Amino acid sequence: MVSGWFAYAFFQTGFSAKAKPSALEVVMARQARHLAVPFSQRNAANPIPASPDLLIEARHHFADHCATCHANDGSGKTPIGENVYPKAPDLRLSDTQSMSDGELFFVIHNGIRFTAMPAWGKGDPAEDKDSWTLVHFIRHLPKLTPDELEDMKHYNPKTDHPAADHHH
Ligand code: HEC
Repeated sequence: MVSGWFAYAFFQTGFSAKAKPSALEVVMARQARHLAVPFSQRNAANPIPASPDLLIEARHHFADHCATCHANDGSGKTPIGENVYPKAPDLRLSDTQSMSDGELFFVIHNGIRFTAMPAWGKGDPAEDKDSWTLVHFIRHLPKLTPDELEDMKHYNPKTDHPAADHHH
């Protein structure tokens, strides 16, 4: 019964690109995704210690690779992020922030099947320093300062952000 509903939610959200999934379907897909993270990985601690330099590196990485969909501030308010279904969520809100470090890592490393969220990890999770670094940045998103936001504009891919061109 239950697994049938999950399959249904995935099927709806995954393959009907233009039909907006119902709130229930989105909730079910979200739940199923949490359940899809193996227990051992859900509780994995971030092996990379946070530092000011590391956060800068992560911020630039996010601006370059993630902001096209997620926006520099994590709101998901971009032409792509708002027009894929399911939409790119606001990463600053508790839905995302309540995920464990291990879950965030898992999502970044593996992507989310049937959604626009790509997999970013290459090879062995134990060597995927970039994804753990990005987990630190996602934790930092709710506290992003105006200066940091301004700085990120210089790292957004140029073609997608003509406004940033004057800098180059
Ligand atoms: C092509 C668009 C796209 C790009 C690029 C992208 N994402 Fe995503 N991401 C999404 C979408 C869409 C979702 C929501 C999928 C869903 O609801 O199941 C998502 C979900 C997530 C989530 C889970 C949030 C939650 O509450 O479930 C995290 C964390 C995340 N992305 C981080 C990243 C990071 C870090 C990068 C860059 C390395 C990145 N994303 C690049 C589209 C994208």
